[in-house]
This record gives sequence, structure tokens and C-alpha cells, in this order.
Amino acid sequence: MNIFIVNGSPRINGNSAFIAKSLFKNYTDATLLNLSDLNYKGCQSCYICREKNTYCVINDDLKNVLEPLSKSDLIILISPNYYGFITGQMKLFLDRWYCLKKANRTSKMKNGAKLFFIITQGAQNRDHASFITSWAKKVFESFNLKFYSYIVPGCKTNSLDMVKIKIDDLKMHLKMFV
Ligand SMILES: Cc1cc2nc3c(=O)[nH]c(=O)nc-3n(C[C@H](O)[C@H](O)[C@H](O)COP(=O)(O)O)c2cc1C
Repeated sequence: MNIFIVNGSPRINGNSAFIAKSLFKNYTDATLLNLSDLNYKGCQSCYICREKNTYCVINDDLKNVLEPLSKSDLIILISPNYYGFITGQMKLFLDRWYCLKKANRTSKMKNGAKLFFIITQGAQNRDHASFITSWAKKVFESFNLKFYSYIVPGCKTNSLDMVKIKIDDLKMHLKMFV
């Protein structure tokens, strides 16, 4: 099984990074991407990918990421909640997925591929991320991906206590989904 784990937090020792590293250790065949390690632009809206049915033509650190991502069986995305949405890093990354649909808007993703979407947030109330998860469900299902979301509330910037408490539960949900 080809697996991509993508951490959208800029904090390399933060809550999202803890989850990413912990899940990465579970698999022998996974790729771990920390978006803050990469230099990349958002989609430039050139439409070459759709017109010529190519992958994205921008020559940056996502050049060799998007095609293998489209061939993976499981994509795990982790983003902190920033003002009720995902981080800017994650949004720019997802905009580049525009090339993962063909000109007729059908998906280039592997048949049966799944997307497990994790939000970490400071607020205790999971409703704080409800906009993100309903938005994400629509977007990822339009890529023909089976979708599941998991919110980790009550994360602190100076402590990993909450993610440490939740990690086994998160892994159980992931196992049930996959
Ligand atoms: C710019 C910014 C905006 C944030 N906005 C929210 C928010 O709207 N709701 C919330 O619950 N937490 C918010 N937080 C807190 C983060 O979601 C929380 O600390 C998260 O666990 C950080 O993840 P990390 O440790 O992986 O970086 C915000 C943090 C930052 C830096």
C-alpha cells in the first residue's frame, strides 16, 4: 500500500508533527512530507494541466510529489486549525491538486484511494472545525477519494499532552477506515 502523510503545520515539533511522525512509524512504505520543508507556490491558474492533461508544470518542490500522490492508496493530511480553516501552507498545497483532475473533471487519483484528514486545534469544542471538515469532504470526494475526518481538540502550543492522549484513538479510527 502506497501511503502519503502530509504535515501542514510550520511547527516541526508541534502537535501535527507528533501525529505525522507517530503514524509514519507505523508503515514501512509511507512518504512523510513536512510542507514547511518545501518551497512551492500556489496554483498559478495557467490551466496547462487541464488543457494538456499533464501534471502541474510549475518547477518547484512539488514537481515530483503530485504524480506519486495521485498513485497512492492512502493520503493522510494533518493541519492545524487556523482561524477556522486549514493553514496557508496546506491550502497552497491543495490548490496545486488542480492538476489531479482531467480536462473532463474526472479524477486522476487511484481507484479506491482514501483520504484521512486530521485537524489539530486549540479550542475544546470540535464544532470549531466543522466548517473545515464539511468543506474538505466535498473537495476530496470530488477527487473520488473516500473521506474520513478526525479532530484533535484542546491542543496547546507548549505541550503535546493532548495528542499523546488521543493518538491511540486516532490510530484506531484510521485502522477502521482503512
Ligand atoms: C495563526 C493561528 C490561528 C489559529 N486559529 C485557531 C482557531 O481559529 N481555532 C483554534 O481552535 N485554534 C487556533 N489556533 C491554534 C492551533 O490550531 C493549535 O495550537 C494547533 O494545535 C497547532 O498545531 P501545531 O502544534 O501542529 O502547529 C491558531 C494558531 C495560529 C498560529
